Amino acid sequence: MERKTGLILALDVTDRMEAVAISEKVSGYVDAIKIGYPLVLSTGMDMISQLSKYAPIIADFKVADIPNTNRLICEQVFKAGADAVIVQGFTGHDSLEAAVKLAKEQKKDIYVVTEMSHPGALDFMQQVGEGIAKMAADAKASGVVAPATRPERVAEIRKIIGNDLSIISPGVGAQGGSASDVIKAGADWVIVGRSIYQAEDPAMAAKKLVDEMKEFI
Ligand code: C5P
Repeated sequence: MERKTGLILALDVTDRMEAVAISEKVSGYVDAIKIGYPLVLSTGMDMISQLSKYAPIIADFKVADIPNTNRLICEQVFKAGADAVIVQGFTGHDSLEAAVKLAKEQKKDIYVVTEMSHPGALDFMQQVGEGIAKMAADAKASGVVAPATRPERVAEIRKIIGNDLSIISPGVGAQGGSASDVIKAGADWVIVGRSIYQAEDPAMAAKKLVDEMKEFI
């Protein structure tokens, strides 16, 4: 994924027309569009190819299964036109390696969740986040997903993975994180959903974020 703006749109709407309209408006400001279960379950897998006209698509299915099933899932998602898939890291090295192997064969990307951005992530996930980051680096994944709500964790994870992997970081805006703070902490991209797609003017909201990050990218 090429970094031009540092912004990824999380498009968690459930209506096809709305998804297309928002993508059209913000396409000049985003490097990728992340879609997940809310949109795909309500509209269908063909939403992926429809939106890929506007930006590369990251499929946030947080895949968390045994190696063979991970591979089968990623195969279908790439076939549908996605450029990247987000997988969970807690399932361990073999499940991750199966996804990464397939992605490399198809010149696609796998991003691994280290810990999530919501408060409940502190219950279980944060304790294993650093181990998952190291595993993602060993497996040569394209990058990790780390929380913009905790820039100090992003900085920690950057130290562990070095500069070969990217960090994509959700939690800006609605969940309280700041775009410039998390980029300064070491993230390559921020992932922003509600603050853009619920804004009266999504393009303006996206532009504001891009302008805020410009000097740190
Ligand atoms: O609306 P908001 O900007 O909070 O959206 C954040 C997006 O990032 C949602 O799609 C959410 O599922 C996703 N996400 C997250 N934390 C993670 C991984 C993904 O918030 N660790």
